Amino acid sequence: MDPCVYLFLASLLSVTSAQFIPPYTEDCRTEMYPPNGPTFRGPVSWYTVDLDLPASKRWTAVITEKKTDLVNMIQAIKDLANAFVPSGRLIELVDITLPLMVETLPNPFREEIKGIATVSGVPLGEVVLFNIFYEVFTVCTSVVAEDHKGNLIHGRNLDFGLFMGWDVKNKSWIISEKLKPLVVNLDFKRNNQTVFKSTNFAGYVGMLTGIKPHTFTLTMNERFSLDGGYVGILEWILGQRDGMWMSFLTRSVLENANSYDEAKKLLAQTKLLAPAYFILGGNQTGQGCVITRSRILSINILEIDLKLGRWYVLETNYDHWEEPFFLDDRRTPAMKCMNQTTQANISFKTMYDVLSTKPVLNKLTTYTTLMQVSEGKLESYIRDCPEPCMPW
Ligand SMILES: *[C@@H]1O[C@H](CO)[C@@H](O)[C@H](O)[C@H]1NC(C)=O
Ligand SMILES: *[C@@H]1O[C@H](CO)[C@@H](O)[C@H](O)[C@H]1NC(C)=O
Ligand SMILES: *[C@@H]1O[C@H](CO)[C@@H](O)[C@H](O)[C@H]1NC(C)=O
Ligand SMILES: *[C@@H]1O[C@H](CO)[C@@H](O)[C@H](O)[C@H]1NC(C)=O
Ligand SMILES: *[C@@H]1O[C@H](CO)[C@@H](O)[C@H](O)[C@H]1NC(C)=O
Repeated sequence: MDPCVYLFLASLLSVTSAQFIPPYTEDCRTEMYPPNGPTFRGPVSWYTVDLDLPASKRWTAVITEKKTDLVNMIQAIKDLANAFVPSGRLIELVDITLPLMVETLPNPFREEIKGIATVSGVPLGEVVLFNIFYEVFTVCTSVVAEDHKGNLIHGRNLDFGLFMGWDVKNKSWIISEKLKPLVVNLDFKRNNQTVFKSTNFAGYVGMLTGIKPHTFTLTMNERFSLDGGYVGILEWILGQRDGMWMSFLTRSVLENANSYDEAKKLLAQTKLLAPAYFILGGNQTGQGCVITRSRILSINILEIDLKLGRWYVLETNYDHWEEPFFLDDRRTPAMKCMNQTTQANISFKTMYDVLSTKPVLNKLTTYTTLMQVSEGKLESYIRDCPEPCMPW
């Protein structure tokens, strides 16, 4: 069976007690921005990460403040693991084997992860687990659109926590809820100047959402595929380490690439541990694309093409040339709302409306980020999805 279908059936089973009728959709939302009402949980705080500090010290400020939330989150993962394998063996394995694995990770990631473990007091193996988690269970929506003036606007919903324990009473995903307090905006500086900014989870050193001001914007979405991630990750553990962790690549591109074209080339050509979608926006007209990746290479690049009337590109978690899985069609509602908005009216305000329309907004949505490259602007908001709402 397609792993995707399998995963969704598994997840469907785990939420049978939720009263929902899939697919739950609604008319395109309007007047949601500035964020307000029951789908807006709160703003996201900013922290500075000083790249001039030694890697092991960079996260001290963030982690000192978010320590309790991080410990709670990791405890929730452990509870789930122990519910799954009651002997406690799974976590024992994590505590014994993953600290060995940290030595195989490239720097600065290795030293940063060790620093986070030291400051938080969380065992090293569990911090590693937290850091590889996202490579596996992230479902999202990303869109890059061009307005009539040639400005690129990039928006995304980060949906995380599928299969991670359904809380029957609260009708929510346990891990998604625990992640919300960990959402932070980060300003990465060198010589006291911003190099890039991102929305992230405290304790996580890779990047899923970021902007290099005036140059490019980047998000990553998970691609479920048979030539799948788990094989690459297994190979890494077994010692064959020629691919790159996906969210380490996005971080390194944000840090080191100096143009849209350079970023695109690195994202398309670097060998990965698992398939992925990279959604990239540039600083000039026509510069927006979805790069569909296998582990080895770029299979397809879909670009904004105004001549063809394609003023935006949008990606959820399915190859754009195929139909989305029928129980998880966030693409059609998102495109419907983008089409209704029209290029003439696209802005942070209308992009936020699109990302606030169920099921683009769903029970897994932890945050919404909006980025505008020409102004170097990144805004993010913690989200809620009150009933009735799709679990994904
Ligand atoms: C469920 O909701 C209640 C009330 O809103 C809250 O106190 C509790 O922490 C929630 N539980 C979880 C696991 O999120
Ligand atoms: C860094 O920049 C900020 C604002 O741009 C300024 O207030 C601060 O003094 C600078 N710090 C150093 C060490 O240059
Ligand atoms: C766009 O990016 C390129 C490459 O970094 C840079 O040379 C150029 O100045 C940028 N253009 C604008 C309008 O910021
Ligand atoms: C949105 O518009 C595009 C381009 O005209 C079209 O290909 C697509 O089918 C439309 N999608 C929806 C859901 O309306
Ligand atoms: C676009 O915005 C204009 C001005 O705010 C408004 O009159 C028009 O109805 C909007 N068009 C759509 C399709 O929403």
